[in-house]
Amino acid sequence: MNPNRHLMTLDEFTFFQTKQFKNSTGELSTLLRDIGLACKLINKQVNKAGLTEILGAHGAVNVQGEEQMKLDVFANEVMISVLRNSADCAGIASEENDDIVVFEDDHSLNSKYVVMFDPLDGSSNIDVNASIGTIFCIYKRISELGKPCNIDDFLQKGRNIMASGYVIYGSSTMLVYASRLGVNGFTLEQSIGEFCLSHKDMRCPVDGKIYSINQGNTCKLNDKLKSYLDFCMADDKATRRPYSHRYIGSMVADLHRTLIKGGIFMYPEDRSNPKGKLRLLYECNPMSHIIEMAGGKGTSGTENILDMKPSELHQRVPIFIGSKNMVEQAVAMIYQ
Ligand code: AHG
Repeated sequence: MNPNRHLMTLDEFTFFQTKQFKNSTGELSTLLRDIGLACKLINKQVNKAGLTEILGAHGAVNVQGEEQMKLDVFANEVMISVLRNSADCAGIASEENDDIVVFEDDHSLNSKYVVMFDPLDGSSNIDVNASIGTIFCIYKRISELGKPCNIDDFLQKGRNIMASGYVIYGSSTMLVYASRLGVNGFTLEQSIGEFCLSHKDMRCPVDGKIYSINQGNTCKLNDKLKSYLDFCMADDKATRRPYSHRYIGSMVADLHRTLIKGGIFMYPEDRSNPKGKLRLLYECNPMSHIIEMAGGKGTSGTENILDMKPSELHQRVPIFIGSKNMVEQAVAMIYQ
């Protein structure tokens, strides 16, 4: 039997990338492998979400007498515990935690990286079996090695992201990973429990014909935003309009489609969310980094997302993200 060497695992791929840099220590690859492990554990639970409910809902006990955990709480605890055990993480910030979590053991104090994540984005979709995801990004800390990391390590501009990614728990489970060398997708091969390279050098089409927004909120939008939506729905064959409308309500799923097929995803400011709804640090920054590394664009309408200096951990920001030409056109029509 011949070994199937058409498969390249996430580990092999990141190690191969590491070898291209003379001074690279491989720490980032190790961290990515650890995040991959956490996501495989989350995937296992997500896949049996319906069964878990049969065995006992949140607050109930299962047949072993263990308390059942809500999936987003479970995902958060898995991410934290795996990264705490990681050789290369000094601390984390999670959408589920009010404050940063600093790892103070001797090894972590000397770790170079901090990680930010949304452990289970789109979790309201769990009940209807729609795709959900984990989003993450990795920064090099700016605080002194040997000391505990601090809030300034986490309030860096998205421009400083070293690597980012998401895992989509969908019809298959896939990890999309962006580094300065580009964006690559790895599908979980369940039989060997490994993420394997399946989407090499992913590029976001510069143009598209899909717009993605919670259109039910139109009554809460300002006139310019409403006019842009009218533009998306207008009949004009020359510019491929009307665009198709797609909205899953799970940013990972909506942006995974946008990355592959092109289009624009928006969560703008509205009457109920004057600063937008989505979080700069856990959702908008990592997703903008991925989309930008793939040739697309992410903006708040007035500023490139990656150039914004965060002022607080759970800051919200309006976002327009996806195919470069579509995003630029939307911004020109709404904000200029
Ligand atoms: P949650 O994780 O609480 O389900 O939020 C999901 C986020 C994001 O993934 C999605 O794009 C957006 O919220 C959907 O918000 P609306 O329901 O307001 O459209």
